[in-house]
Amino acid sequence: MPLSFNDSSVTVAIVGCGGFIGSHLLDAVLCRTKWRVFGVDVDFYRIQHRLNDERCEFINADLADPRIVERIAQFPVVVNLAAICTPSRYMAEAPAVIRSNYDHPAALACACAKSGAWLIHFSTSEVYGRTLEDSGQLDEDKTGFVFGPVASSRWSYATAKLLAERFIAGLAGLCWTVVRPFNFVGPYMDFMPGVDGEGIPRVLANFSTALLRGESLKLVNGGKARRTFTSVFDAVDFMFALFASGDKGFSQAFNVGNPDNEVSIAELAERMRRIFARLKGVTVESLPAPEVVDGETFYGSGYDDSMRRLPSVEKAAKLLGFRAQVPLDVAVEESLTWFIGHYSNAAD
Ligand SMILES: NC(=O)c1ccc[n+]([C@@H]2O[C@H](COP(=O)([O-])OP(=O)(O)OC[C@H]3O[C@@H](n4cnc5c(N)ncnc54)[C@H](O)[C@@H]3O)[C@@H](O)[C@H]2O)c1
Repeated sequence: MPLSFNDSSVTVAIVGCGGFIGSHLLDAVLCRTKWRVFGVDVDFYRIQHRLNDERCEFINADLADPRIVERIAQFPVVVNLAAICTPSRYMAEAPAVIRSNYDHPAALACACAKSGAWLIHFSTSEVYGRTLEDSGQLDEDKTGFVFGPVASSRWSYATAKLLAERFIAGLAGLCWTVVRPFNFVGPYMDFMPGVDGEGIPRVLANFSTALLRGESLKLVNGGKARRTFTSVFDAVDFMFALFASGDKGFSQAFNVGNPDNEVSIAELAERMRRIFARLKGVTVESLPAPEVVDGETFYGSGYDDSMRRLPSVEKAAKLLGFRAQVPLDVAVEESLTWFIGHYSNAAD
C-alpha cells in the first residue's frame, strides 16, 4: 500500500536527520505531509528551527547504541542517512568509517527485519568503485565493481557501503530499498573548515570555502574526474516518489542522479568561479586561478579516485516515475548563494 501523505498516524524515523540530506528531508516531510518524525542524530545545528515542532521527537543518540537501534526499528518507515561520509576521513580513520558504514547499518537492518519496518538505506555512488574515463552509464543491476588495493584506504567507505548493501539485500524478512546518491549539492552541504567543522569537506563546500576566502580552487590530479551533480531538492523529490510508490521500490537499489549535469571537476571549478563572480559583482579575472595539486598531497596517503560516475536513471523513471530536473548551474547557484549568506562573516 502506498503511504498516504495525509495520514497523521504515520511516523517516519529519520536517522541522521541533522545532516545535509536529513535536514532537507525533514523540512519536506513536515511541509508536504501530515506525518510525525522520530529524528535521531548526534548533531542538530542544521535543524534548530524544527526542534520544537510538535510533530517531531528528536533524540540525541549514536546509532552505535543497540537500545536506540531497537527504538528506531519500532517505526514503520526508517530512513537511514547516518554515516561518516567525508572523503578526507576515509584514509585517516578507516576503521571508524567501516563501523559507521557497515556495522551500524547492519545492526539497524537486523532490527528492522525483526520488527517489519521498511528500511530505506542511503548507500553511495562510490559502490561503483574505481571507474575509468570511458566507463559508460552505471546500471544498478548490471554494472560490476572494481576497487583499488587495500593500501588505497580511500576505498574503506565504498567497500563498507557495498557490504552493507549486500547484507541488507540478503537479510531474510527485511523490507528494504537502497539509495545510491550521485553527488548531491545544495544549501547546508558540509561545513567551512575552521568554522563549523575540521578536515576537507566535499568538493562543492571545498570550492565554496576557497572562493569566499579568496584562495585558489585546488584541482586534485588536474580535476579530470567527471561527476554528475544533483540538486538536493531533486533528491527529496525522489524520496517522495519512493514513499508514494507502494511496494514498487521494495528490494531495489536506485541510482539517484542527474546524468544531464555531468562535468569534470575542472569544469565545475570554472562554473563556480563564474557564478561566484556574478553573485559578488566582481570579474572572474579578479579571482585567483585554479591550482593543480597531487591527490595524496591534498587528501593524504591512501588516496585513489574513480574517473567517471554517470548514472543510469532508467530504473527510478520506470518504477517510480522519477527523473531529476534541476540543471547544474541552478543547483550550483543555490548552493553558492546559501554558502555566501551563511559564511560571509566567518570567511576570514
Ligand atoms: N550528499 C551526498 O551527495 C551523498 C553522496 C553519497 C552518499 N551519501 C550518503 O547519504 C547519507 C547522508 O549524507 P549527507 O550528505 O546528509 O551527510 P551528512 O554528514 O551531512 O549527514 C549525516 C548525518 O548523520 C549523523 N551521524 C553520523 N554518524 C552517526 C551516528 N553514529 N549516530 C547518529 N547520527 C550519526 C551526522 O551527525 C550527520 O548529521 C550518508 O549515508 C552518505 O554516505 C550522500
